Amino acid sequence: MNKLAVITGAASGMGNNAAIRLGGIYDILMTDINKDSLEVEAQTLRDRGITVYTFPCNVANREQVTKLAEYATQCGTVGCVVHAAGIAPGPKAVAEQIFTINAMGTAYMTEAFFPVLDQGGVMINVASMSSYMSTGHVPYDLLRLNPFQPEFLEKNLVVFSAMEAAQAPGFAYLVSKHFVRDYTARNAMRFGKRGVRILSISPGNIMTPMYFNEVKDSCDSMLPQTPIGRHGKPEEISDLIAFLVSSQAAFITGIDVLCDGGCVAGMTMDQVTESLFIPPLA
Ligand SMILES: NC(=O)c1ccc[n+]([C@@H]2O[C@H](COP(=O)([O-])OP(=O)(O)OC[C@H]3O[C@@H](n4cnc5c(N)ncnc54)[C@H](O)[C@@H]3O)[C@@H](O)[C@H]2O)c1
Repeated sequence: MNKLAVITGAASGMGNNAAIRLGGIYDILMTDINKDSLEVEAQTLRDRGITVYTFPCNVANREQVTKLAEYATQCGTVGCVVHAAGIAPGPKAVAEQIFTINAMGTAYMTEAFFPVLDQGGVMINVASMSSYMSTGHVPYDLLRLNPFQPEFLEKNLVVFSAMEAAQAPGFAYLVSKHFVRDYTARNAMRFGKRGVRILSISPGNIMTPMYFNEVKDSCDSMLPQTPIGRHGKPEEISDLIAFLVSSQAAFITGIDVLCDGGCVAGMTMDQVTESLFIPPLA
């Protein structure tokens, strides 16, 4: 009998593609805030013969996430969780919403599934390559406050509200994804003691609906400095996820895996490379 994979953000993009990729290896519990798309996408997987359960859930609502975890235990033995739900700093998003969904959602999901994941299980939280690009000014002291105490959200939101309105959403996104990586790493030891792995992945620019609808212009401006010379496909992230949840990755936990076509290296090392004297090849 298959174990269960719980996938958030499963109605679109990388979460949806992960559900397709892991379907058949696992039974799938698809969850998303968008109920209509969730049911449509679930039916698409069922039509392929995959056993699929659905549970609409807002990951920024702790009560709903707790109910999701309870429902998961009724559906099967939870073998892995892929937490892909998140929002980008697109034209309509505000800093508070971005931080609450991306950071608090990750804390709620991690906490709710800690006791539920089966021995040998894996939790994967989706961060972003943006967390590699700008580390200055990230308020690590605030990110390491207890996310279940009100001051965590209050103090982090003060930082964004003190910024210029146009900059706050982008910074809130970057800080929220720093939190995803940091919180994931900080949980590795206690997950390890239960025989469960936890890690994060940082996708680069991936051509999902989020990319096309929210961030295309800013992503496209990075193409000239992307060594692979193109953006990524959701399937390339799903292949990484499939590896990381497999027994072949049994010694990998507590880290972030950057999968970005070399974009971070291209962007951060460009100036370093220019400063070197590299003789032309004969
Ligand atoms: N696309 C990229 O280039 C890129 C790059 C780096 C990181 N990411 C991250 O990858 C993850 C997946 O992004 P994607 O590109 O597949 O986006 P997407 O917009 O295609 O899919 C995200 C899904 O999350 C759901 N969602 C949003 N808020 C939610 C909430 N509060 N509760 C439950 N579900 C919610 C949406 O309804 C949607 O179905 C996100 O965390 C995003 O920040 C994306």
